[in-house]
Amino acid sequence: MGLKATYKDIKRLLYRRIYMSKQKERSIADQFHIMYYDAFLFGKTWGESHFMGTHIKKFPFDTWIYQEMLHELKPDLIIECGTYKGGNALYLASLLDFMQKGEIVTIDIVDYPDKPQHPRITYLTGSTLAPEILSILDEKAKGKSSVLVILDDDHSCDHVLQEMEIYQRYVTPGNYMIVEDSNVNGHPVFPEHGPGPYEAIEKFMRTNTQFEIDKGRERYYMTANPNGYLRKK
Ligand SMILES: C[S@@+](CC[C@H](N)C(=O)[O-])C[C@H]1O[C@@H](n2cnc3c(N)ncnc32)[C@H](O)[C@@H]1O
Repeated sequence: MGLKATYKDIKRLLYRRIYMSKQKERSIADQFHIMYYDAFLFGKTWGESHFMGTHIKKFPFDTWIYQEMLHELKPDLIIECGTYKGGNALYLASLLDFMQKGEIVTIDIVDYPDKPQHPRITYLTGSTLAPEILSILDEKAKGKSSVLVILDDDHSCDHVLQEMEIYQRYVTPGNYMIVEDSNVNGHPVFPEHGPGPYEAIEKFMRTNTQFEIDKGRERYYMTANPNGYLRKK
């Protein structure tokens, strides 16, 4: 992204920074994040988010980042692990409609009733690690030049790490594997969760040289996916 700030803007920013250190900035963002996350217990925020009437378990900052990414990447195929009620699949399919290309395959172990139907969405029922699901995905991904993967199902560290190891093969160079909900286990929310996506990413990145963490996708300060936007080099 190019530098668009004028000398006057920079002066104003520096002045403001005297009063707000990086640390303070982080702490404000984290406090808001915790407040926003926990409010779902009272029927607010992400516990009551809908896209065109279907429940979607996403923060609006992340859905906006998704929109920007789809415009840039123009994926032929999106693989989503974790459908839930289909809210995110419908949102992504609607964005693909704008570009008049692409499809989504979304997998869930539970076949929720009344999922939204859309010509760009294929629903698969089963575990994301089941061989029969993976062989369908192998066929779907064959020959596709732009494939994006979203991991948003079982958030335990072991499961996510296994998924990352397997699903990385579908991601095309320059595209992304998005690991959702790495904010749990105290990053900064739900400290009681235990090792989750954040820890899986740490382990994956210790040996993997093909992916890099794109912190630019976290520029709205609050994301449910800290360190979770992984770009394939
Ligand atoms: C966080 S929700 C998905 C939210 C959805 N992506 C959205 O944005 O609205 C997680 C889903 O993963 C599913 N799930 C859990 N373990 C799974 C597994 N091993 N394979 C497939 N789906 C699984 C659950 O049934 C649940 O619907």
